Amino acid sequence: MSRRRTAVLISGRGSNLAALLGASRERSYPAEIALVIANEPAAAGLAHAAAAGVAGAVIDHRPFGRDRAAHEGAMIAALGAAGIELVCLAGYMRRLSPRMVAHFAGRMLNIHPSLLPAFPGLNTHARALAAGVKLHGCTVHLVTEALDDGPIVAQAAVPVLPGDTAATLGARVLAQEHLLYPLALALLARGAPGMVAEGVAAAGTAALQNPLPLPGALP
Ligand code: GRF
Repeated sequence: MSRRRTAVLISGRGSNLAALLGASRERSYPAEIALVIANEPAAAGLAHAAAAGVAGAVIDHRPFGRDRAAHEGAMIAALGAAGIELVCLAGYMRRLSPRMVAHFAGRMLNIHPSLLPAFPGLNTHARALAAGVKLHGCTVHLVTEALDDGPIVAQAAVPVLPGDTAATLGARVLAQEHLLYPLALALLARGAPGMVAEGVAAAGTAALQNPLPLPGALP
């Protein structure tokens, strides 16, 4: 079976990258992580790539100043040179231009720590607590021009428990992210190329089963 050559873009810690690297270690997994690109030279996640023997590149946005197109042009060139078909954004903290989004339309995923369309943007766990929701979670979606938007490929839900802080809730969500992202990438890899909005349904969608009993469940 030919595996889809996949790149992961990161800016920091890279725990989702580590989960994807772990999944792709399995020969039967339909995607191969072939390249990791960080826009931050100090991104801790680069160590995961090195440990896995996967090529890691730093393409710092700062030398490009305000020229976003030039920075993305350098990334597109690196991705093309590595024969990359699919891209996973995993804690990549820069907005992408329409050009970059169009280049990878239907081939680029993002993971977001909320049950979209609720809580796009930052500080999702604190906002979920402030809103008083009883279920929270994470979403993997295809990347479109709008922030934290685009067709949903997979979601996982967790309960919000009494006494939760943004940190405890975030940790519960993150554990699900690490299961969900490999699942969603596998769905895309099996459906790609050409997995566009309508194609999501054809390729299958997924929801991880809630791993925790809901508190105060009615008898
Ligand atoms: C994750 O919570 C992800 O959902 C969000 O950024 C965070 C990245 O964490 N987009 P890590 O770098 O994968 O550990």
